[in-house]
Amino acid sequence: MDQQTLIEKTIEIRKHAYIPYCKFAVGAALRTKSGKVYTGCNIENAAYPVTCCAERVAIFKAISEGDLEFVEMAVAADTTRPVPPCGSCRQVMSEFFPKDMNIHLTNLNKEVTTFTMESLLPFSFTEADLLGE
Ligand code: THU
Repeated sequence: MDQQTLIEKTIEIRKHAYIPYCKFAVGAALRTKSGKVYTGCNIENAAYPVTCCAERVAIFKAISEGDLEFVEMAVAADTTRPVPPCGSCRQVMSEFFPKDMNIHLTNLNKEVTTFTMESLLPFSFTEADLLGE
């Protein structure tokens, strides 16, 4: 699957976003080494902080299926610039994504900016820090 097809899946899955509060739909699509694509949309909650972002929904879907080898991700929203993932999502991505993995950020104008995991969240907190290595 090419980058464009992955991006189209992010636009498609935005339709399922549960967004009664912010009315701001986000879509994510995550490709694994096995060739599968896991999609995610944001799911809000009346208790606002419980909301789960589209990126984490896609990542957690894949992990819950035992699919942990990630190859490429795309994220889309109706933003002026390609949508920047929030800090919490970047930290979750950094737990699972290789440092050189590409993350394509886009908007409805199909503007795309691609970051590597390392460039999206440099100097991230890792297991090595936790273990004092
Ligand atoms: N949101 C995402 O889904 N991903 C992000 O990286 C940024 C924010 C969602 C959460 C909430 O439903 C809405 O966008 C506004 O913050």
